[in-house]
Amino acid sequence: MTQVNHQFRLAARPVGMPKRTDWSYVEEPLRQPGTDEVLVKTLYLSLDPAMRGWMNEGKSYIAPVEIGAVMRAGGVGKVIASGHPGFKEGDEVYGTLGIQEYAVVPGKTLTKVDSKLAPLPVYLGTLGMPGMTAYFGLLEVGKPKAGDTVVVSGAAGAVGTVVGQIARIKGCRVVGIAGGQEKCDYVVRELGFDAAIDYKSQDVKKALREHCPEGINVYFDNVGGDILDAALARLARGARIVICGAISQYNATSAVKGPSNYMSLLVNRASMTGMVVFDYADRYAEAMREMAGWLAAGKLKTREDIVTGIETFPETLLKLFKGENLGKLVLKVT
Ligand SMILES: NC(=O)c1ccc[n+]([C@@H]2O[C@H](COP(=O)([O-])OP(=O)(O)OC[C@H]3O[C@@H](n4cnc5c(N)ncnc54)[C@H](OP(=O)(O)O)[C@@H]3O)[C@@H](O)[C@H]2O)c1
Repeated sequence: MTQVNHQFRLAARPVGMPKRTDWSYVEEPLRQPGTDEVLVKTLYLSLDPAMRGWMNEGKSYIAPVEIGAVMRAGGVGKVIASGHPGFKEGDEVYGTLGIQEYAVVPGKTLTKVDSKLAPLPVYLGTLGMPGMTAYFGLLEVGKPKAGDTVVVSGAAGAVGTVVGQIARIKGCRVVGIAGGQEKCDYVVRELGFDAAIDYKSQDVKKALREHCPEGINVYFDNVGGDILDAALARLARGARIVICGAISQYNATSAVKGPSNYMSLLVNRASMTGMVVFDYADRYAEAMREMAGWLAAGKLKTREDIVTGIETFPETLLKLFKGENLGKLVLKVT
């Protein structure tokens, strides 16, 4: 009997928040891998804010997903069959598998992972792309020094939780900004942040004045918009702003809201630098070793928010934009 592969393919370029009808949920017969290809059964898929950008046309740091193509996504899975000498049946792998139950991909695009060292979903979060983003964005671009005040927005999410914890490991004071009391309590009580600001119920500018009396040395920005402006208003001299993301703007139907307080960069001799994690790909192994060590030593905690059922993909993705995820949002395929 022919095995069937269920997939989400991009059907339309969304305007504003994506809708279910922006994808088509289809099935196609499974094909066997050719030379140097590997057939992977997808177990967990990474749902990322960046997916919203990949659905748009136009120049970016990566090509858009074409209309009709399987929706791009990172995932972890098990090798079912291999035409590549480096992989065999049963191997656990990470790769760009797409929103589908099975993927046939070139073996050279896969990385082996090991569920004995960490549960598979962790390879999509702290030991995966978001963790690498936090590590290189903070350490290479933010350049924190012990005693610095580090502020991170999107603090209870996949990237933010790791940024705050690494900053603590490096001896910094850490202030998180997140939506809602539960998330603020989580980053302070569970992750050891020094303080958290609930941007949904507090005046962020005022709260930053209280929590950062000497100013902000490093601001790691995941959200953009008004929160970036509030942080700009509180910079210390020589501050570094890491532009990692701007999720508050991803579904905007009018022009993206840029910072109006940018003259603060001049006054404070500060810098604002964009970063893309893929630029550090040749150093992921180095970061993974160090992060795995922190995990094993209990210095770094990881949390995944796992939703089951590939068929829920369009609605589950929206949790990111509604702030309904705590920790790394992962889709368990079956
Ligand atoms: N540059 C890179 O290479 C790179 C790589 C990975 C990720 N990123 C970026 O990093 C950021 C975080 O990604 P992630 O994977 O860790 O996602 P995440 O933080 O786990 O999830 C997204 C969170 O964003 C917050 N959010 C949503 N809409 C918001 C709004 N209008 N204003 C303020 N906050 C809002 C929500 O938290 P609240 O409940 O707190 O609002 C939501 O839970 C994103 O901007 C992403 O694009 C960049």
